[in-house]
Amino acid sequence: MTDEFAVEMQDVVKRFTTPEGGILAAVNHVTMQIRDGEFFSLLGPSGCGKTTSLRMIAGFELPTEGKILIHGKDVSQIAPFQRPVNTVFQQYALFPHMTVEQNIGFGLEMKGVSKVERSARVSEALEMVRLPGMEMRKPKQLSGGQQQRIALARALVNKPEVLLLDEPLGALDLKLRKEMQLELKSLQREVGITFIYVTHDQEEALTMSDRIAVMSKGVALQVDKPEAIYERPATKFVADFIGETNFLDGVVRGQTGSTVEVDLPGTGTVYIESSRTFANGQQATVAVRPEKMTLNREISGGNNLTGRVEEVIYIGTDTHYGVRFAGSHKARVREQNVTQGQKALASIGDEAVVSFTRTSPRLLTE
Ligand SMILES: Nc1ncnc2c1ncn2[C@@H]1O[C@H](COP(=O)(O)OP(=O)(O)O)[C@@H](O)[C@H]1O
Ligand SMILES: [Mg+2]
Repeated sequence: MTDEFAVEMQDVVKRFTTPEGGILAAVNHVTMQIRDGEFFSLLGPSGCGKTTSLRMIAGFELPTEGKILIHGKDVSQIAPFQRPVNTVFQQYALFPHMTVEQNIGFGLEMKGVSKVERSARVSEALEMVRLPGMEMRKPKQLSGGQQQRIALARALVNKPEVLLLDEPLGALDLKLRKEMQLELKSLQREVGITFIYVTHDQEEALTMSDRIAVMSKGVALQVDKPEAIYERPATKFVADFIGETNFLDGVVRGQTGSTVEVDLPGTGTVYIESSRTFANGQQATVAVRPEKMTLNREISGGNNLTGRVEEVIYIGTDTHYGVRFAGSHKARVREQNVTQGQKALASIGDEAVVSFTRTSPRLLTE
């Protein structure tokens, strides 16, 4: 029944004893389902439990509680080498004294695959990572990017059902990393293998993934498509971690249907569309992306708040304005510079109106 899922984590907990003698839940009741053929990312800050989750799927760690299923089969008690998965690490650790062919074919040799078949599969794997004909090189005769591709070929050569990648591009410089992101994505599409990709880089996750699990402190806060994570973050943490967000803290003063009236003390009243129900007097935070706000271009039927400009930053494609309101609120507004030689919409010290529609914010309570 569960065959449509490549991997399932069912209420998985992993507790470690810390050197100080305490107990730490590195992964705390995580449930998620990764679909077959999906490029799925675990995204979150350092220490949130990404690597521990991946190591449990690989079998290098056993869950304290809960189950891990691969294609519907409970693998919780199965050894790593018997699971249909393979892992690519950030430290890709190729054997320096071996050729590329020997490095990639090592696992196959251990399994007793014949030399002829080995060499055919190694060439095929090298084609996949776009390094055909590199069989006889030694790792030190390759660039960092090429070494990472060899590590990838080594992981792909025995045709795993699921490939686990733990920050595999972390050691590369920015330009190469961006290139490899696109290549990895298209490689994944070509081979159709499920990829579970760990990263702390939100832009990387947005660029590459079909779906993302945003993690914090051992918990998966939201599992969704990139655009849903960005447009409809479930919590303040998610809104803050992915992209930039303005948070305007307020108090709910009423709700008519889906329209919620929120008082931003000292700053003004705003009206926000939400599918949730709020209680009068409830604390709530209006979360709005800077590009969804405008400066000095009032929106009729929208929210228009008057404040004072205290920062103007020209960055070529956009100009960013920092605006402070009468209450303790402030906002950063991003305006695109769409015409040549476009003048700033306001200068530092000016009074200005910040506007946003009723549908662009998220009204969040946690
Ligand atoms: N073997 C271990 N023993 C004790 N604590 C660990 C162990 N492995 C990881 N941790 C702790 O578990 C938490 C999550 O670690 P990890 O999964 O590596 O995070 P991430 O990969 O998201 O940076 C961290 O606080 C880390 O220090
Ligand atoms: Mg890690």
